[in-house]
Amino acid sequence: MTQGIKIVTIGGGSSYTPELVEGFIKRYHELPVRELWLVDIEAGKEKLEIVGSLAKRMIEKAGLPIDVHLTLDRRAALKDADYVTTQFRVGLLDARAKDERIPLSHGVLGQETNGPGGLFKGLRTIPVILDIVKDMKELCPDAWLINFTNPAGMVTEAVLRYTDHKKIVGLCNVPIGIEMGVAKLLNVDHSRIRIDFAGLNHMVFGLDVYLDGVSVKDKVINLLSNPENSSFVKNIKGQGWEPEFIRALNVLTCPYHMYYYKKDEMLQKELKNFKDGTTRAEVVQKLEAELFELYKDPNLAIKPPQLEERGGAYYSDAAVRLISSIYNDKRDIQPVNTINNGAIASIPYKSAVEVSCVITKEGPKPIINGDLPVAVRGLVQQIKSFERVAAEAAVTGNYDTALLAMVINPLVPSDKVGKAILDEMLEAHKEYLPKFFQKVEA
Ligand code: G6P
Repeated sequence: MTQGIKIVTIGGGSSYTPELVEGFIKRYHELPVRELWLVDIEAGKEKLEIVGSLAKRMIEKAGLPIDVHLTLDRRAALKDADYVTTQFRVGLLDARAKDERIPLSHGVLGQETNGPGGLFKGLRTIPVILDIVKDMKELCPDAWLINFTNPAGMVTEAVLRYTDHKKIVGLCNVPIGIEMGVAKLLNVDHSRIRIDFAGLNHMVFGLDVYLDGVSVKDKVINLLSNPENSSFVKNIKGQGWEPEFIRALNVLTCPYHMYYYKKDEMLQKELKNFKDGTTRAEVVQKLEAELFELYKDPNLAIKPPQLEERGGAYYSDAAVRLISSIYNDKRDIQPVNTINNGAIASIPYKSAVEVSCVITKEGPKPIINGDLPVAVRGLVQQIKSFERVAAEAAVTGNYDTALLAMVINPLVPSDKVGKAILDEMLEAHKEYLPKFFQKVEA
């Protein structure tokens, strides 16, 4: 431990990497990283070189003894790692565009982690994550896997269910984004806000919110009816809740709840984007191109502010504060995706949930919430069933199981429409779904 920490980041060529590097620089005093290995695949080589060079310049500017390694050899990187972070996107942004555009062409919501798009992102991603875990078992069995790859809840569920590697934490910037957003609404420092989070990834609720330990839930809930206040991430614009509805719901929502409680408004908005060629993937493709142009500048040695236009803001804060709390056995409270262990009574004991946890050197210990309020419980259970069936489909490559996952998703209107979308998406993503097609060929 005294020689410092080895971090391996898979999907190291991501445009988010400067965000992560900034986090390691800021917390170096409590988290002495010695080696940072940025890993990517052949298709991401150019991006890895560009963003990797920027990472090296950032660390040099900070004057820290962190060695940055860039590699396409995942196994070489994983050897003796202490923490492995995953932030890759199978099929890159082109696959995301298909996840959004194909459902929309059938009049169904197209989003990267919800509905049919979320299902397909899971089908592509889960086999890769399971492969990474297999390598970790062999090359760094004691390392923690900190997964950022979406759909983070489904991915965490798959690792818990289909491997015996229990050192996994799924992480998302939505809870920290809500904390920051609430702090801004109340005009106070983030450190004074605490929220009791419970639910699933991108389906998480704030059961209570405290300022200096005193509940301010009623005040915050009233503020959420203002469109300006009801979104906490850049990729989903707030629309404001009906005041009577949000008061009756009586919990803090996350931005992704708009896809469920404002189904039609969100769909109409997306259909417009579909026509204009401005779905989120298409917007992000442009943003990424601009970011990589900036990253190429040899004089740039900081995270450029333009990165904050991406939905993943504060992601490094969430990742680095988590790793630091595990490393230092801080026992502070952070919201993460981990094994339920009874924290939420109506969710299976061994399933992944997103809840406030005490973070120890043995990992997150979920805080027992009892149960979710009855009004939201059913939706959370339905999404959990969707995640489980989807994970099973990803592991087995079974067509019927994939169809089942598609149709039980609350954003899919019927079995017939679901089947049409499934068939088209299977074909479109064929190259990243070997399990499904090996079967057909066999
Ligand atoms: C969020 C989510 C992340 C997601 C990101 C997308 O806020 O929490 O899970 O990856 O937005 O942002 P983007 O800029 O890629 O649309």
